[in-house]
Amino acid sequence: MGYMGAGKTTMGKKLASALSLDFIDIDIFIETRYKKTINQIFEELGEKKFREIENSVLKEISEFDNVIVSTGGGTPCFFDNIDVMNQTGLTIYLEATPSALAKRLHKSKEKRPLLKDKTDEELVDYIRINLEKRVDYYNQAHFIFNTDNILTKEDIDSYIEPLIKNIEQTINRD
Ligand code: S3P
Repeated sequence: MGYMGAGKTTMGKKLASALSLDFIDIDIFIETRYKKTINQIFEELGEKKFREIENSVLKEISEFDNVIVSTGGGTPCFFDNIDVMNQTGLTIYLEATPSALAKRLHKSKEKRPLLKDKTDEELVDYIRINLEKRVDYYNQAHFIFNTDNILTKEDIDSYIEPLIKNIEQTINRD
């Protein structure tokens, strides 16, 4: 879990391949099932309906065993989603500062209904304010992993090993 641009999909795929587990991206799962992009769902059905769909899909996916799941940025912050996630899996929050997120989202904001109308100047302020509302949910994750220094594809590779070690150490300690 983590804000838009935190690297959930990229890190999730890497983690799944390192651990030989299947990977599920909740947004892609929704897009495939509803045969619409997330942008279309927001435009045609509205955010409220999207959150209901997200909640029911999360509950469905939480029944799966041995998968790495990348949530949408808002997933843990609606309904009882964070409790469902924490009760059925090990959760990781990919943390990043608003300015690091804005830099990463600069090119891909069109794909995101909540960001597509924001200018670059508005983007960082929107992220700061929105992140403040969400951080209490994100901080309930079992693990918090800072991604500010991950700038290249090579950085991701070198961060996966320590992430797995950190998780294993914590599991063995508890
Ligand atoms: C959202 C994040 C998006 C997607 C939707 C809403 C959010 O997922 O679920 O556009 O509220 O933060 P990503 O975080 O994968 O972009």
